[in-house]
Amino acid sequence: MLAVRGLAKSWPGGDALFAQVDLAVAAGELVAILGESGAGKSTLLNIVAGLDRADAGTVEVGDTRVSALDEDGLARWRRRHVGFVFQAFHLLPYLSVAENAGLPLLLNGVPAAERRERVQAALASVGLAGRGDRRPASLSGGEMQRVAVARAVVHRPALVLADEPTGNLDETNAAATLEALRAAVKREGAAGVLVTHSPVAAAAADRVLRLAGRRLAPA
Ligand SMILES: Nc1ncnc2c1ncn2[C@@H]1O[C@H](COP(=O)(O)OP(=O)(O)O)[C@@H](O)[C@H]1O
Ligand SMILES: [Mg+2]
Repeated sequence: MLAVRGLAKSWPGGDALFAQVDLAVAAGELVAILGESGAGKSTLLNIVAGLDRADAGTVEVGDTRVSALDEDGLARWRRRHVGFVFQAFHLLPYLSVAENAGLPLLLNGVPAAERRERVQAALASVGLAGRGDRRPASLSGGEMQRVAVARAVVHRPALVLADEPTGNLDETNAAATLEALRAAVKREGAAGVLVTHSPVAAAAADRVLRLAGRRLAPA
């Protein structure tokens, strides 16, 4: 589902962050990328998501060569095919939980009745049935992150990406979030990539790689 080949990135004036990065992730597989702070995990994930450009190499998702799309093509592709979970949740405080979870459907022009149904199913799948009318601020951090997981998969994207999704959570909520993420990747048949500095979080994945010394290799 995801095929990354020969990816290289350096920032202007900086040394190479990484080079010759290859990564293949199957549909329904969750891969973790472990690495120290500053190793380049977020940069790598953002390139895979089409939010950033590599200096060399290709990113393919299904039949789409993402690395060859122009900015408009990238924006359209992301909206349809990518779900992203961030460390700091990034829920919109003035929208309800259901409106937050349904945003990708709204952006993709899915009709209201189908949106309601799919949002309900997505919230139920992360253990938040019946919370749709709440505001994010009335939820715990763990619940907020599970709303973010629901939002990341509600439009059935090909790619589900998570950048330190448990960085702001205690152990119990971290475990619940990772389980929700893992179950969603399996259920929707997405390619999942989780980047984290935490070996405990990485252990939730089917396969663990490490980004270190500018290379991505089995952990
Ligand atoms: N837009 C940018 N311009 C220049 N340097 C950057 C930029 N983004 C990140 N970096 C640098 O790249 C390195 C890796 O950052 P990052 O990918 O965020 O690592 P990680 O997520 O593993 O902590 C850091 O040294 C960071 O300062
Ligand atoms: Mg990071």
